Amino acid sequence: MTSNNNDFQIRRIATKDFQQVKEALNFLTEVEPLSQEKFDKVLEYWSTYKLPECDSPVYNCFIIVPVNDSGDETGEVAAVGTIFIEQKLIHGGALTGHIEDIAVNAKFQGKKLGKKLINYLSQYGLNNGCYKVILDCEEKNIGFYEKCNFNRHGVEMQIRK
Ligand code: ACO
Repeated sequence: MTSNNNDFQIRRIATKDFQQVKEALNFLTEVEPLSQEKFDKVLEYWSTYKLPECDSPVYNCFIIVPVNDSGDETGEVAAVGTIFIEQKLIHGGALTGHIEDIAVNAKFQGKKLGKKLINYLSQYGLNNGCYKVILDCEEKNIGFYEKCNFNRHGVEMQIRK
């Protein structure tokens, strides 16, 4: 799936994106150690699972890539993010979309690419049957997600090893 945005395109992640995706994700958190082999295995695992009632995969990782005047990709990855679609028992077996691991490479921040990616992922979830799309974020990013039309709801809890 590809969608145009002037000199940027959104498409699914691929094995060739390893280095550039790692670079983008480093603006979110620690990524290493992550080998090309492990990266490929995760992509392969993600592609294994499909939702029973629609054609969408469960794991949907998309990237934003810059393109040149001829429409060819420059080889960079400006942003990366995932929507994981959960099949529930409640609400008659409803679907919920979970947006995870959003990162815009610092070189491309402030160009509305984060907003474009969040809008794309949330529409993807809603168009594929999710009755809601949710995410967790730090306090410092609340303003960003409010600009993307998300509202505060509940509190994130966690337990860590
Ligand atoms: N707080 C408040 N407003 C913000 C913030 C922020 N932290 N960041 C951006 N905005 C505003 C912008 O000013 C802009 O407002 P405008 O439309 O009125 O001009 C709007 O939000 C859209 O901004 P973008 O240009 O789309 O933001 P950007 O492309 O820089 O992406 C992001 C924002 C994703 C937070 C980016 O800075 C980033 O990757 N940060 C590091 C990693 C990170 O924190 N990721 C999010 C983790 S949460 C998760 O994964 C679910």
